[in-house]
Amino acid sequence: MRLPLRLLAALLHLLAWTSTLLNIHAMPPPPAVQCNRTTGSSASGCTLYNTYGAWGDRKDCHIPNVTYPTTEEQLRLAVAYANRNKIKVKVVSKFSHTIPKLACPMISTSGSEEALLVSTAKLDSSIEVDAENLAVTADAGVGLRELIDRVEEAGLSLVAAPYWEGVSVAGLISTGAHGSSWWGKGGAVHDHVIGLSLVVPARPSEGYAKIIRLEPQDPLFDAAKVSLGLLGVISKVKLSLERGFKRSIAYNFTDDDRFEEVYVDHAKKHEFADITWYPSKHKAVYRYDDRVPLNMSGNGVYDFIGFQSNSILISKSMRATENTLENARSVSGKCTLAATTVGSKELLANGLRNGLIFTGYPVVGRQGKIQTSGSCLYSPTADIMTTCAWDPRIKGLFFYETTAIFPSPKFGDFIRDVKKLRDLKPENFCGVDIYNGFLIRFIKSSRAYLGHSEDSVVVDFNYYRANEPSSPRLNQDVWEEVEQMAFFKYGAKPHWAKNRNLAFLNVQHKYPNFHKFIAAKEQLDPQNMFSSEWSDEIVFGKEMEAKGDGCALEGQCICSEDRHCSPDKGYFCQRGLVYKEARVCRYSPSSIS
Ligand SMILES: Cc1cc2nc3c(=O)[nH]c(=O)nc-3n(C[C@H](O)[C@H](O)[C@H](O)COP(=O)(O)OP(=O)(O)OC[C@H]3O[C@@H](n4cnc5c(N)ncnc54)[C@H](O)[C@@H]3O)c2cc1C
Ligand SMILES: *[C@@H]1O[C@H](CO)[C@@H](O)[C@H](O)[C@H]1NC(C)=O
Ligand SMILES: *[C@@H]1O[C@H](CO)[C@@H](O)[C@H](O)[C@H]1NC(C)=O
Ligand SMILES: *[C@@H]1O[C@H](CO)[C@@H](O)[C@H](O)[C@H]1NC(C)=O
Ligand SMILES: *[C@@H]1O[C@H](CO)[C@@H](O)[C@H](O)[C@H]1NC(C)=O
Repeated sequence: MRLPLRLLAALLHLLAWTSTLLNIHAMPPPPAVQCNRTTGSSASGCTLYNTYGAWGDRKDCHIPNVTYPTTEEQLRLAVAYANRNKIKVKVVSKFSHTIPKLACPMISTSGSEEALLVSTAKLDSSIEVDAENLAVTADAGVGLRELIDRVEEAGLSLVAAPYWEGVSVAGLISTGAHGSSWWGKGGAVHDHVIGLSLVVPARPSEGYAKIIRLEPQDPLFDAAKVSLGLLGVISKVKLSLERGFKRSIAYNFTDDDRFEEVYVDHAKKHEFADITWYPSKHKAVYRYDDRVPLNMSGNGVYDFIGFQSNSILISKSMRATENTLENARSVSGKCTLAATTVGSKELLANGLRNGLIFTGYPVVGRQGKIQTSGSCLYSPTADIMTTCAWDPRIKGLFFYETTAIFPSPKFGDFIRDVKKLRDLKPENFCGVDIYNGFLIRFIKSSRAYLGHSEDSVVVDFNYYRANEPSSPRLNQDVWEEVEQMAFFKYGAKPHWAKNRNLAFLNVQHKYPNFHKFIAAKEQLDPQNMFSSEWSDEIVFGKEMEAKGDGCALEGQCICSEDRHCSPDKGYFCQRGLVYKEARVCRYSPSSIS
């Protein structure tokens, strides 16, 4: 096991270096909606995919009819068509990057039911920058990168954005996407929204659908900022901007002592602070990230390593290695991989570059080049074939992403608990450190009903997901315990665009204004046209009625009997080690009878 791992590590290093120097060509992600044209019928079936391939575990999302409006009026006609014919309608962006199946209109694959999917892939022509009033208005389907580039050309900056740029303007606000900041309006993009146009169903006399324009003083505004596509279709989004600025960034790779005590100070001291925690390595990485004036010298960029193109060969061998380590139950192999990953991130400053390469801290660059990245998305021609590492076509990375949002005061106690679990056996955490460890970010209190009403701390962690849903994963009891601690012991809220289903249990009771959101929905969409069984499952967070065998393996349930795990393969339903109320699937070979 040792040699191939070292080799892979060396390869990884090399690749990380070369891809920053060479311009390797990438294959863009597959389209979200794919149709079969083999049958002669015009109503031939289409399937909606998630860009991660995250929906393969259950029934595909079958789509009987999809439409690609290019104008607001075409969008209105599409909603009118659905309303007149009393069929379900859902919206999805060109990207479909959201992990829960919110955008899927129906369960049935029989084809007898009707439903309409509205794609905003072609609703992307207009970006109007109003420099005088520091605002930009964009069509719903405009990509975040395009929006930012236009804003920066006008000498302005969008202050908040998620770290990943492969999203649409309407899709990202709809799930509460965020970067990191407790300053000003804060790190969540929806708190920078100052106007929204929404297409909603209307009476026959009004033409079955109408466009409403919402402004901050409108009583529906706080419902519409984060709406999960449940209120209607957003046609335009207006965001507030600031005068263009630069940022100066340094990472401090240091020990993880007391980070659970200093996170508040860190967030208060630096406008765009975040922290990455690698528990198995006892390492915390503080991001010191502050705004500096435009005339400060520096043309740095942030091209996050995890979002850079990988050659298909490397992605596949990474995945193959991880599969092998899983099958061999090799904790030490995982730790070697984790050490290499964290080591190259430190060496390469996570993908920060002063110019062509990283030469040292601080890196100073324009906001538009620093906040968000995703270079694996571009360059359609192929010399060396490269993709995003998780591209479902290449058998590359496949992982779960747990994202929990805590009221700030509870976050320290959560980390103290996770540290207790870590200290029992630090190697068990190598599996998350192979990905991005625990990424800790900050979002400010928001008036959005499905946003966060107090200053909050977000933690994200990714870990191996098997291709075969029935395969248990190495140390899965650890991830399950952390997950249950976050969502049930500390009452954290799940990010709407990430997580496994169990994280959404009871979610509606965690939002004090949830009932106001539902009231707005009843007003705008009285027929529930924009809801489906899929989105109800997430939004109302109900427990499964009949828990199937193995349901805990993919986070469809919390185990209460061994059969919810995988007793054949030695995984039994047991208590948490630190959070005793947790019920997790733990490997315990001696229990096999
Ligand atoms: C690699 C990666 C990194 C990420 N990093 C971050 C991060 O740093 N921070 C963060 O917060 N999130 C992050 N995310 C999550 C991402 O921001 C969200 O999934 C976002 O919602 C995706 O936007 P989209 O345009 O792909 O929306 P989709 O997935 O297409 O849609 C999202 C939801 O919005 C609805 N919707 C879409 N368009 C409209 C419309 N016009 N009107 C009404 N409803 C609509 C859909 O029905 C669906 O419910 C990341 C995701 C990936 C894949
Ligand atoms: C196309 O049809 C084939 C055969 O019926 C099916 O297996 C496949 O999933 C379909 N693809 C899409 C995109 O619907
Ligand atoms: C699909 O939806 C459009 C409205 O967007 C409608 O005009 C068309 O007739 C529908 N096609 C089918 C086959 O239902
Ligand atoms: C890095 O963080 C450690 C621990 O907080 C601190 O002691 C040290 O001074 C920091 N280093 C830099 C360069 O800021
Ligand atoms: C930047 O501009 C400000 C005034 O706008 C000036 O005071 C400062 O000296 C300038 N700094 C540099 C590095 O040019």
